[in-house]
Amino acid sequence: MHLPNYKEAKTTDKREYEEKNYKLKEEYKDKFLGKKCFLKTYGCQMNEHDSEIITGLLTEMGFTFTDDYLEADLILLNTCSIRENAHNKAFGMLGRAKHLKEEKKDLMIGLCGCMAQEEGVITNLLEKYSYLNFVIGTHNIFELPDALVKSVEEGKIQIEVYSRERELVENLPTKRKNKFKAYVTIIYGCDKFCTYCIVPYTRGRQRSRKKEEILEEIKKLKEENYQEVTLLGQNVNAYGKDLYEDYSMAELLADVASLGIPRVRFMTSHPWDFTDAMIDVIAKYDNIMPSIHLPVQSGSDRILKLMGRRYNIESYLTLFHKMKERIKNCAISTDIIVGFPTETEEDFEKTLELVKECKYDNAFTFIYSPRENTPAAKMKDDIPLSEKESRLYRLNEVVNTYFLENNKKLLNKEVEVLVEGKSLKKDEEYFGYTDTNKLVNIKNGNDDIIGKIVKVKITDAKTWSLDGEYVSR
Ligand code: SAH
Ligand code: SF4
Ligand code: F3S
Repeated sequence: MHLPNYKEAKTTDKREYEEKNYKLKEEYKDKFLGKKCFLKTYGCQMNEHDSEIITGLLTEMGFTFTDDYLEADLILLNTCSIRENAHNKAFGMLGRAKHLKEEKKDLMIGLCGCMAQEEGVITNLLEKYSYLNFVIGTHNIFELPDALVKSVEEGKIQIEVYSRERELVENLPTKRKNKFKAYVTIIYGCDKFCTYCIVPYTRGRQRSRKKEEILEEIKKLKEENYQEVTLLGQNVNAYGKDLYEDYSMAELLADVASLGIPRVRFMTSHPWDFTDAMIDVIAKYDNIMPSIHLPVQSGSDRILKLMGRRYNIESYLTLFHKMKERIKNCAISTDIIVGFPTETEEDFEKTLELVKECKYDNAFTFIYSPRENTPAAKMKDDIPLSEKESRLYRLNEVVNTYFLENNKKLLNKEVEVLVEGKSLKKDEEYFGYTDTNKLVNIKNGNDDIIGKIVKVKITDAKTWSLDGEYVSR
């Protein structure tokens, strides 16, 4: 049993990481043959990718997967801590699992992901949800098979959560969800400690993967006909800082692009670490997509300072406009928090002004949610919820007008779309994404275009999607 510990999670000392290659224990192979798993993923791409690894681990143990939790033998929740509602959703599902367990005594239930790293969550689980089989933290998902087997053999809950990062494990069996687009982790953890954010506590310190491992993984993906890779990390721009003196995100991007995979993306970028060299590389390579997620969080310098974001609006805008000038056809998206402690109407109006200047192609907007153990949770938060909701509504009204305005610029133009499959809503339509990551619903296509980058003429523009007609390959 290893329980999470915030004191340790906060420490910032640098450590040496042992590297290991994963291998399933011989006696675990197909141990659960015939059993079905319901795996529910909450949160960001990091978690989605972890779920692809978990799917790989469980497949080797004989599991198949189901979308119906009622027919599952194992219910596994890969959880997120970023805001209160993510918590609520996971606890709601745990409640349903508990009911099911009353009828189905052999049902196995597990929890992993960021919530596992929270002291408060673990205390709650031990008090009210001790019927769980296992809890595994974010630093050791490779130990999930051990925890599962042990819980079944010993008939009691296994909690294996480490508050600091452990060895970097390569060679994990990954079962990717998408056949054409792949996530590739380049850096784990985050060292930024923005005052509102729980991620540095749930994901540990920044650790880059070796460039050779990353390039090797992408070479294989290319051989398997993948059309797109997204380089993943909480702050990809810090890539290499902990490993190399003269190899950074700019060099990695260039090396990845040179492998010739048709589309390269990366996320997320902290504005503070975005270098000119990176902008030059993005502008130089046609296969690095002109689509950048550049979270701003607030338009007020006072709030940015309280958030610990390490930039001000002037430097953010300088960077923003440099990208727009140097990168052809560049689409920029962002994240914004409203209702941060002490945010005044004046601060909020500065956010609206910024949005009007940047005219983002996409924006994810959130009401501030206090997170256990973060510095912002101790700040005096005297804005009523109704005011926060009203600010979110007003902000969304403004950002939405620009999504539509930007989409309308594509009307009657031919764009390149990576077609992912048949539309879920209309049987005869297909769907895919442009280089700038806009969703396009395509008429008059055929099954041959799936998995290919094709030309589509845009015939209608909506706020969150485009309609188009297939032109040619
Ligand atoms: N590493 C990324 C962000 C990851 S979290 C970055 O720094 O850009 C995704 C988004 O969730 C953040 O950009 C922020 O807008 C939002 N977020 C994080 N913590 C939050 C909190 N406590 N309350 C509300 N939104 C939050
Ligand atoms: Fe959280 Fe800030 Fe790190 Fe992003 S950069 S994960 S917001 S601490
Ligand atoms: Fe959530 Fe953890 Fe991602 S808190 S947003 S799943 S890193």
